[in-house]
Amino acid sequence: MTAEEICGKLDALLKAGAGLDKLLSTAVEFLHASHSRFHWTGIYELFPDDVLRLGSFIGSPTDHVFIAVGRGVCGTAVAEKRNINVPDVSKVSNYLACSTTTKSELVVLIRRGDRIFGQIDIDSHELNAFDPETVVKVERVAEWLAGAYEASRGLPSPDGAVAARGKQR
Ligand code: SME
Repeated sequence: MTAEEICGKLDALLKAGAGLDKLLSTAVEFLHASHSRFHWTGIYELFPDDVLRLGSFIGSPTDHVFIAVGRGVCGTAVAEKRNINVPDVSKVSNYLACSTTTKSELVVLIRRGDRIFGQIDIDSHELNAFDPETVVKVERVAEWLAGAYEASRGLPSPDGAVAARGKQR
């Protein structure tokens, strides 16, 4: 499935009244199914105490349910406000291992400007699994989810209007 197809399905769910949790879990499901090299796909949500908490995921259970900002690849992405593509996790000193089979990892922030809502985290059993096209696809889904977060929290959208999709949280 392409990013456009995934976002189209999410649009349809939203119109049908789905809440944020359903939208997040569906995005994980579609993203995970969209690529044979995605072996673990999940969303960490950023809470006001500067801790990432694991939400919806597909793949083996992980010990890293809570990750402080600044720790691991996931926490570093938030601390440095940037997406991180790790072609070989064995080369990263602060990597938090979820599974010994993971070889590469991609973290894409769900954000609007400096406001970070969470992140999409994907692990692969293959080295260098995330080519530029794949990264763009995940970024597009993350961008869609940022809009869903804004709407659920009643935050102003980029054009200044308050999103009116209803407060789901
Ligand atoms: N590897 C991540 C931890 C999350 S697991 O991959 C699911 C990190 O270094 O932050």
